[in-house]
Amino acid sequence: GAPVTQSLKKIEPGQQLIVGWRSLPVFIVNRSPSQLAALPKQDARLVDPKSDGASAAQQPKYAQNETRSIKPEWLVMIGICTHLGCVPNYVPDLKPEPFDPNWQGGYYCPCHHSRYDMAGRVYQGVPAPKNMEIPPYHFIDDTTVQIG
Ligand code: FES
Repeated sequence: GAPVTQSLKKIEPGQQLIVGWRSLPVFIVNRSPSQLAALPKQDARLVDPKSDGASAAQQPKYAQNETRSIKPEWLVMIGICTHLGCVPNYVPDLKPEPFDPNWQGGYYCPCHHSRYDMAGRVYQGVPAPKNMEIPPYHFIDDTTVQIG
């Protein structure tokens, strides 16, 4: 599939845009300061917080860091649940039951209730085995990303 170019100019902090790449949904999120601040607080409840276990192959080298991204605020991720391939919903804020009260928001898969944080890292106690995948991407300039 051809690379996809996307302007980031109109994506506000906390907002997600979904673009298609190779017939896959790619989630692009401008993570807000509070979403970024929540990332390190989740580690104890994540299956593979450093993405160095089964998730190691799920991300390029430049995304092998806490935010799983080139720039901390910009999440660029293939929006496919690693359980059986549904598209998780973006749930940017903490939600009451039936969600885990400790969960800080992120992604919720409606198929079998897997949850992920705002870096696509899978939460404990759900069926998804791995963190969601980071695609190959790079920045063409400050406000334009190319996927693929
Ligand atoms: Fe997402 Fe099963 S496909 S939890």
